[in-house]
Parts: sequence; C-alpha cells; structure tokens
Amino acid sequence: MVVTAHPLATKVGLDIMKKGGNAIDASIAVQFALAVVYPRAGNIGGGGFMVYRSKDNAYAALDFREKAPKQSHRDMYLDSLGNVIEGLSLKSHMAVGVPGVVDGMVKAHQKYGSLSWKELVQPAFELAQGGILLTQKEADKLNETQADFKAVNTKDNVFMGTFSKGQLFKQLELAETLARIRDEGEKGFYEGPTADLLVEEMKRGNGIITHDDLKSYDAVWRTPFAEPYKSYTIISMPPPSSGGIALCQLLNTLEQYPIRDMEFHSAEHVHLVTEIERRVYADRATHLGDPDFWEVPQQQLIAEPYLIERMNDFNPDSATSSEKILAGEFATKESEETTHFSIVDDEGNAVSVTTTLNLNYGSKIVVGGAGFFLNNEMDDFSVKPGVPNYFGLVGNEGNAIESEKRMLSSMTPSIILKDDQLYMVVGTPGGSTIITSVFQTFVNVAEFEQPLLDAVHNKRFHSQWLPDKIFIEEATLDSTVIRQLEEMGHTIEERRPIGRVEAILVHPDGKLEGVADSRGDDDAGGL
Ligand code: DON
Repeated sequence: MVVTAHPLATKVGLDIMKKGGNAIDASIAVQFALAVVYPRAGNIGGGGFMVYRSKDNAYAALDFREKAPKQSHRDMYLDSLGNVIEGLSLKSHMAVGVPGVVDGMVKAHQKYGSLSWKELVQPAFELAQGGILLTQKEADKLNETQADFKAVNTKDNVFMGTFSKGQLFKQLELAETLARIRDEGEKGFYEGPTADLLVEEMKRGNGIITHDDLKSYDAVWRTPFAEPYKSYTIISMPPPSSGGIALCQLLNTLEQYPIRDMEFHSAEHVHLVTEIERRVYADRATHLGDPDFWEVPQQQLIAEPYLIERMNDFNPDSATSSEKILAGEFATKESEETTHFSIVDDEGNAVSVTTTLNLNYGSKIVVGGAGFFLNNEMDDFSVKPGVPNYFGLVGNEGNAIESEKRMLSSMTPSIILKDDQLYMVVGTPGGSTIITSVFQTFVNVAEFEQPLLDAVHNKRFHSQWLPDKIFIEEATLDSTVIRQLEEMGHTIEERRPIGRVEAILVHPDGKLEGVADSRGDDDAGGL
C-alpha cells in the first residue's frame, strides 16, 4: 500500500514493489518522483525524516534534515539595531539550509535497499525527461507564484511562464541532475556539476552555502522515539523534530482524562485538547532543539508525573491564558507545503516519511541549470528569541541559529503498533499543525472509534500556546460549541485547511486500508 500526495508518485512506489522492491526501495523511488511531479514540496533541495519499522519489529529513524551552512550565526537575520530583516529567512538565498534528501536516500538504500540504486532513481528521471500533464491545481499554483519566482531567481527556469491544465510539463535540467544522482549516487549531488551549479547559484544570489558545506553534509540514523500509550506503541521522530516528544506528551496527558466519554468536537473535547496543546507547545518553544547542539530533556518531558503536574491549573470550565511573550501571527496565506507518504510492503515492513522545502516551492529559488527548488528551512530556527517564525512558533536558545546546526521541526512521521503488531502508518504536512493533525487522526481512530476514512477527513482544530487561539477549519464546530468555548475564554479563528494526512491502517485480518486526504489531489494505491 502506497499513499502519497500525487497519483504518479503512488504509481512509482507500486511499480517498485511489483518489481520485488521492499517498502524502503519504494520510499526512495517515491521521494525522487515527488521531486518531479510535486515540486512544491517533493524535493531534492530540502530535507526530511524517515521512520521505519521492519516486519521483525526493528525500528529506525533517519534524519536527513537540512543543516545551517557553516557561515551561519545566531544573528544572521538581524539588522544593526537587532531587528529581524523581513523576508531574509524565507525568500532569499540566505534562507536555504544545506539539503539533506539525497544523502538521506543513499543512507536508507545502503542499510535497507534491495533493488539497485539506479532502478530507484530512474522513474523520477523518466518523469522529468518525458514530462507530466499538469492538473488544474498544479497550473494554478505555478501561475500564482510567478511574482515570487521572478523576484528571487537569478536565471530563467521552466517554472516561469503561464501554465494551463493538461499542458505537458518537462523538466530537462532536473532530468540531467537526476541522471547524475542515478549514476553517481550522493557524489552526483554533493560534488561535481550539481554542486558547482548550486554554489554558483549561491554566489549570484548572495547565499552562503559552499562546496565544503555540501561535501560535509551527513544524514544521521537516530534512536527512534518509541513510547507506549495504553496498548499502543508510538514510534516517531526524535529531535531535531519536536514531533515524537510532543505527540507523546499530548497522548499521555490525554490518557488522564475520560476522552471516550466526551462527545466528538464538543466544547468539553475541544477545551481539554486545547489546554493540553497549550502546555505542550510551551515546552516545545523552550526545551527542544537539535540534540547535537542542545540537551533536550526528553525523559523529563514525557514522564507521567510531570505531565500530570502540568495540568494542575487546568480548569474544565475556563481557558488558561498563554500570557506574556510576543503573540505569534499565524500564517494563513500559504497552503500545506510539506508532504508525507506512508508505505507498507507485502511482508509488513512499514515506512513513514515526511519531507519538505518548508513553504510552497521552498525559497522559490531554482538552482540555475540544475532545475530544482531550494528550501527555506532556515526560518524554522528561532531567528530571535520570542519572535515568531512563519508558523507563529516562538523559540529560544535551544533553537537559536548555530553553524551546522539543524533547525527544529514539527514533522511527525509515525508508525503505531497495537499489542506489538503494526497498526497505523501516518503523517502529514502543515507546519506547526502537523503534530496536532497526527494526534487527532490517531485519537479519532483509537478513542473515538472512527473508520480511518472519517478520521482523516473529519475537520480539524489546532492550538499551539502562542498565539493564544484555537484555529479551526471551516465548519468544524457548531455555533453552540463555539459560543461555549468563547464563554470559557477561548478565541476561535477559522483558517485554511489543516493538514493533508496520508494514513495506512492494518485491520485485524491483516488487510491494509490506505486513505489519502481529499484536501488535496492525494492518492492511495495498493497491490
Ligand atoms: O519542519 C517543519 O516543521 C516545517 N518546515 C514544515 C513545513 C510545512 O509543513 C509546510 N506546510 N505548511
């Protein structure tokens, strides 16, 4: 079963499994295919995380998150008065972190791959060379972004122009880059012509990534985050993602309350979850960062007595104020521009991958002559203590910029076991809402006993400490519930869709059910 953001990427994953490839083989091929067919988030110029559980119950977590270039420093986005220079961490060559995807895929392949590397990159190469037919949504998104493309790019590229539905869209420069990656592995990206083109792009645009940065990038295997919740085991991403810890904090705090007795989307339900989320995101802002640079108190954060104590001032009838600190402005303009895919092979090996350029088409910068977008992941750092990033998230010392550090992430690729058997593979884009979307999807199935189809498609709500609001999708809560919550002291704000969940559920008879979120063009396919 393969669930991705694009039908052609799903097909690539299934084709690889038909050839005898395992779930990791399919994931590698899907990652490269998404870079071609879903360039707004699929990528080779960004980073991500892979969580794996083998049929024999071995777990692994691969961190191919971008790193701050070596010349980065704490105040690189501040002017001489110490104020944040608007846009520098988002739409400039300075916004780009050293890409991790290609090295990540090479490492995944070395450890678990069964088909040849070339076979896994070839489908993406063919899609780039032969072209794809644009959907209406894809054409619209490209047309909408033209002003940004023109503002930041130093050379013309295939993403510039006017696009329409059904148009054949070829990416010949990207095909050449993919051919180098196919034939030379990581050297095809971090050295040679691709690296030269990337560094030349940096020089033209005053960016700071050097050959040395590229050559020394290393994806790392980390100890997966794995913690129990009732009869389940949550396997997810450890730091530099906040996802695993935060998801576990949410669940293990929720466990103290009779959630099953609450009506779904009642004021009681939304209030409780919001109060838990407020506390968890406050911890995220203070305690989390790249573990190679910052000591994350992981065990303390998920200890049951601590989580119980955190709720001491919880009042079932009124909202606790998130107080102090600058209230973050929450992004409402951009849609969900990270992407997740979930894959289970016929042996029961499971892979959960979330990968990102950060925003829509990342920095919007295409490497001249190499045809791929570069991320703007540097904005995920706390550019100044207390100043919110694009997602309204505030941070502090733990997530301050340092040379070669990884920026804190919310990506939560997860695999959940029930009674030690594979149960669910799940993840989503959505910036800061990723954690709460994965949380809701799982709780909808495990506690509210919803079918997976409903659990993925039911409307979502989200709260993150700062700004002190409950964000809801259109028509999530009825007006009485909204009034009740407002009377408790909550501020409710409607916003664009929250999350695009790609999930697989394993039924007791072993059957796999895949659900792709209809908030996008997403697609689930099985053999
Ligand atoms: O790593 C993170 O948390 C973000 N860069 C993810 C960005 C994202 O999901 C964009 N979608 N709205």
